[in-house]
Amino acid sequence: MFYEKYISENKTFIDETWEKLDEKLSRTAVKSRDKIPYSTQNGVHDDKSSDKDIFWWTNGFWGGLMWIMYAATGNEEYKKTAIRSEELMDKAFSDVQKLHHDVGFMWHILSGANYRLTGDTASRNRNLIAAMTLASRFKENGGYIRAWNGKWFGLDNDGWTIIDCMMNIPLLYWASKELGDDRFAQIAVSHADMSIRDHVREDGSMNHIVVHHTVTGEMLETLGGQGYAVGSTWSRGEAWGLYGFILSYMHTGEIRYLNIAKRIANYFITNVADTDWLPLVDFRAPEEPVLYDSTAGAIAACGLIEIARNLPDFEQRPYITAALKILRAMEEKFCNWEENEDSILQMGTEMYTRGIHKPIIYGDYFFAEAIAKLKGFDFNPWLK
Ligand code: GLY
Repeated sequence: MFYEKYISENKTFIDETWEKLDEKLSRTAVKSRDKIPYSTQNGVHDDKSSDKDIFWWTNGFWGGLMWIMYAATGNEEYKKTAIRSEELMDKAFSDVQKLHHDVGFMWHILSGANYRLTGDTASRNRNLIAAMTLASRFKENGGYIRAWNGKWFGLDNDGWTIIDCMMNIPLLYWASKELGDDRFAQIAVSHADMSIRDHVREDGSMNHIVVHHTVTGEMLETLGGQGYAVGSTWSRGEAWGLYGFILSYMHTGEIRYLNIAKRIANYFITNVADTDWLPLVDFRAPEEPVLYDSTAGAIAACGLIEIARNLPDFEQRPYITAALKILRAMEEKFCNWEENEDSILQMGTEMYTRGIHKPIIYGDYFFAEAIAKLKGFDFNPWLK
């Protein structure tokens, strides 16, 4: 198999990077146990566990990262930190109206992972509450899951969907399997099909935000969202779609999701190859300023690895070689392995106009998930 041959040719890089991850994360797992980190300030993890910040969409990634490391190493220190993170997150259930579609990011890789790895029934219950919350956001007219609440930069966002939600719906596939109740998976499939129709463009680029008529459900317009402008290509949105569609294929076996994942991946690979395998924030932005987003690379690498594994031998090459090229380039240029910095992957970017070139927790999460996959650890937190 091409995949296995290529992995063995890259074994030294994979092994050395994994060792560096384990060494650094086993330290920060203890040091940051009582925090829910998002980024770092002067090298020290910040903390999103306050009453105000507990609803923040990235809060599952630190605990999720700990579960990836625990599943691979069996080191109890990772498990203790993951469980602590889940306990801290319980505060978010005290005001469910503040929850949004990112409950998949927040709980499936945290409580869902705990349940799948340890059988903890309290964690199963948390993940089911998250799944029911997500399902309740479904709008039948239009067949989509509403993204956010209230306003976004001053605009009413009732009727908005964002491509990122493709990573939230694995929670629904899981709930259907867990409860033996197809309703959740039906919502996931409906939302994924809406995303093919309204978010994915013919060339494999993507609309980040789509505005739907709140009554009829029809698509009204697209917005630039976190990318450069309307009609541009925000690279993290590409990465969410790339990984999200291959996960929908792995959950459902529906070939249209594999084909869409390949179309998005082909677009992503073409664009990132042009910048030495380091993704720009937006693939359709002016040449200056040069803005990178390492998180897009880490997320895409995870998706590319899964695409390669789900294709026959003779189709694997472009996807697995691109994944390794992205990871190698980012390890060389963007990783910080020093003790005086709590984060690993630098040069993440929140959006084209804000939060530029900083460490962001999901960069570390997806970088570790990708290397764990290449090492052959078979726990995928997004699956059932
Ligand atoms: N899901 C929001 C983001 O990727 O920034």
